[in-house]
Amino acid sequence: MKLFVIGKPIKHSLSPLIHNCWIKKYNIDVKYEKKEIDLLHLEKIISEIRHEKIKGINVTLPYKKIITRFIDEMSQTAKDSEAVNTVFFKENKIYGDNTDGKGFIESIEKEMKFDFEKKKIFIIGAGGAAYGILSQLNKKKVGPVFVANRTKEKLNNLVNHFKSKKSDIFQSNWSALKPPDDTDIIINTTSFGMKKGELIEINYKGLTNSTIFADIIYKPKETEFLKFARLQGFKTINGLDMLIRQAAISFNLWFGISLTEQDIKNAKDICDKAC
Ligand code: ATR
Repeated sequence: MKLFVIGKPIKHSLSPLIHNCWIKKYNIDVKYEKKEIDLLHLEKIISEIRHEKIKGINVTLPYKKIITRFIDEMSQTAKDSEAVNTVFFKENKIYGDNTDGKGFIESIEKEMKFDFEKKKIFIIGAGGAAYGILSQLNKKKVGPVFVANRTKEKLNNLVNHFKSKKSDIFQSNWSALKPPDDTDIIINTTSFGMKKGELIEINYKGLTNSTIFADIIYKPKETEFLKFARLQGFKTINGLDMLIRQAAISFNLWFGISLTEQDIKNAKDICDKAC
């Protein structure tokens, strides 16, 4: 049997490295591969899962949203995030879940020893990743959340989407990019920072040294956003741990195996070498 990560482009995906490391350790008779596919072929791959020719898939850009139309049953998280990154077949149904947000939360809790309850949060971006993270933050009884985004309309949509579940979510000004005083964590959910010289300039006034700067980008290992924050004395974390932990949650959905912290570390070491 095979598992795939599908997307376009997919060349640089680290998912096969991560999953095959665990598949080998747990001696499972499957192979995880990457597959670049066109939009037209989404339906076909879902049909292959339904006919149990494929065990399941991870879905990455640009198909996380559009794949939802082929899913029979979505988890609450997938519904809240309006996106699916993990697909599997169970009890005659195609299931879709989204492990991105959970992976992010676990990464910050475990790696930074951070408790989200009542914390003040500043999010940059209003794309798919922001939806995934916000859907999980909602479960953590966090304090006020402020969101800034370049395109005002997307920001409006995101804040309206979450407002009914969380009344203290607010829009923040993109041009000022100033987190409120004593913000506990600042999260970059945009793709801005992947290319050299791309810097998100934050106004650091009013922040304390305990503020965490988190980036979901893992390549480069340190974005300009994280580098500047580190040089100012703030704590920082990139997106590699999140990537591995979202993969671990998918692995559990397919195989029912709860991976250990050592498994997480082993996968991280492999990715670190490959990056
Ligand atoms: P998704 O598929 O996850 O929605 P996306 O459309 O690429 O991904 O957007 C992800 C986020 O990155 C968005 O918040 C986007 O801002 P806009 O809503 O203004 O498009 C942000 N983003 C991407 N490139 C950016 C850039 N050069 N400057 C600022 N924000 C950027």
